[in-house]
Amino acid sequence: MKTRITELFGIQHPIIQGGMHYVGFAELAAAVSNAGGLGIITALTQKTPADLAREIAKCRTMTDKPFGVNLTFLPVVSQPDYPGYVKAIIDGGVKAVETAGNNPQKWLPILKEAGVAVIHKCTSVRHALKAEAIGCDAVSVDGFECGGHPGEDDVPNFILLPRAAEELKIPFVSSGGMADGRSLVASLALGAEGMNMGTRFMATKEAPVHEKVKQAIVAASELDTRLVMRPLRNTERVLNNAAVERLLEKERTLGDKIKFEDIMPEVAGVYPAVMQRGDVEIGAWSCGMVAGLIHDIPTCKELIDRIMNEANAIIRKRLEGMLAA
Ligand SMILES: Cc1cc2nc3c(=O)[nH]c(=O)nc-3n(C[C@H](O)[C@H](O)[C@H](O)COP(=O)(O)O)c2cc1C
Repeated sequence: MKTRITELFGIQHPIIQGGMHYVGFAELAAAVSNAGGLGIITALTQKTPADLAREIAKCRTMTDKPFGVNLTFLPVVSQPDYPGYVKAIIDGGVKAVETAGNNPQKWLPILKEAGVAVIHKCTSVRHALKAEAIGCDAVSVDGFECGGHPGEDDVPNFILLPRAAEELKIPFVSSGGMADGRSLVASLALGAEGMNMGTRFMATKEAPVHEKVKQAIVAASELDTRLVMRPLRNTERVLNNAAVERLLEKERTLGDKIKFEDIMPEVAGVYPAVMQRGDVEIGAWSCGMVAGLIHDIPTCKELIDRIMNEANAIIRKRLEGMLAA
């Protein structure tokens, strides 16, 4: 399949693995890229720019295909060394960056000068237009369904994607709720030129996370996610568990008076424990509603081949067949 996204990133299939904290290591990025998609290493999971440089070098030993790095600008407790991370990306010869969380304008000149294609992930048409205006090459349009931070507008992809198509000139991929060939064909029909997946890639053989995390996703239904931190305007879609119930109870009780410090035990620094130790009940971790569509733990290659075969069959048989009838 050839789209402006496959052309932009030099990849075989229009499928991107979104940056994921404590999931997006070299192992997963390389597996996705080797399968013909665009794998992405998550910069901020690496404690220092030197660690990111090592992770990029490691990924290079695992794949000769293009891969990218995610740079997330979110409210975090201490400000990361962004100049250092950007330098590690450029020095490492990475040619694709997924930015997210905040306006990446400050970093565009230096990234563009180094020939890096920038895809900005955003949750509204106005932010997508802003990304286009400041010179991003593409956007990832992240609907309300998504795992992680869906923003505060709550517009699901059946509306958000065609709205983006109405307004944007640069290419975009769908993000949030994507799992299979049906998702890809629907995304293309709605105007996207590829799709980005997070939760689906977490439940793959190569995802370097604890088996219990993968099993929790397979066991979950589309009803099992919750939105937390809404009162702090930092909404995150997470898998429900005992810690999330406690967090939501605090939000109900404290109302407008709630501060980040009140929920630190449930959110701060829980990712290593969840993803590496498999302590899946210890705190809130991102997961999309798409968990309801995830029933197995394939390799990235099995997953991507299946998606492309399914998409082909839908386009050539199901849809063509309907036209002929
Ligand atoms: C466990 C997890 C961690 C994530 N961490 C990040 C992150 O650090 N930065 C980022 O930009 N997006 C992050 N995301 C969002 C994904 O890149 C992607 O946009 C999202 O998962 C898409 O929705 P889906 O899960 O329905 O596929 C994360 C998602 C998950 C599930």
